[in-house]
Amino acid sequence: MSDLLLGRTAFGDAANAGNVISKDEANALLNDWVKNERLKLHMKQVAYLMKQWATEKENLNEDDIWRWEMAGLLHDADWDQWPDQHCKKIINELEQRNVDPEIIHAIASHGPNHFGVEPETKMDKMLFAFDELSGLIHAYSLMRPEGYNGMELKGVKKRLKEKSFAANVAREEINDACERVGIPLEDVILFIISHQPHV
Ligand SMILES: [Fe+2]
Repeated sequence: MSDLLLGRTAFGDAANAGNVISKDEANALLNDWVKNERLKLHMKQVAYLMKQWATEKENLNEDDIWRWEMAGLLHDADWDQWPDQHCKKIINELEQRNVDPEIIHAIASHGPNHFGVEPETKMDKMLFAFDELSGLIHAYSLMRPEGYNGMELKGVKKRLKEKSFAANVAREEINDACERVGIPLEDVILFIISHQPHV
């Protein structure tokens, strides 16, 4: 059993609905807490995917798009320095800053098997769906001489089947996440392939 269980399913304060921190504040927090450049890039990639999905697929307004982006940007903020407190520390920080409970819930549910919190909203589910898959596709880009250029769906699917490739990426979680959100795995892969190179 995971020792990262949060032991609660309610986060933040309903009175803070809609509250966000600014982009500058979020980036300052990221730079302050995360020294590992690779992890920082991962968080920026997931943030961009969340932002673009909210824009292109959900047609959300600017405020909501930033809420999605912010959840992506900060979801692993405490992983670098406090892995044994992941993601308690970032949750506490955002609660202290009176951030919108939906953003905190999205972060708290991005690993239901680890944290014991089920993804509920579309934002929760997309964060869960993008997280592992984004990492696997980035790892794949690093082993291809042409990087993301010309990357195809079938290549990514092959890497997914190859358990020794990016072995720390949990395949079951990827399938589970796509099922929960009701979007075919192929569609999520194609979205990442076409957007992630822009980060
Ligand atoms: Fe992540």
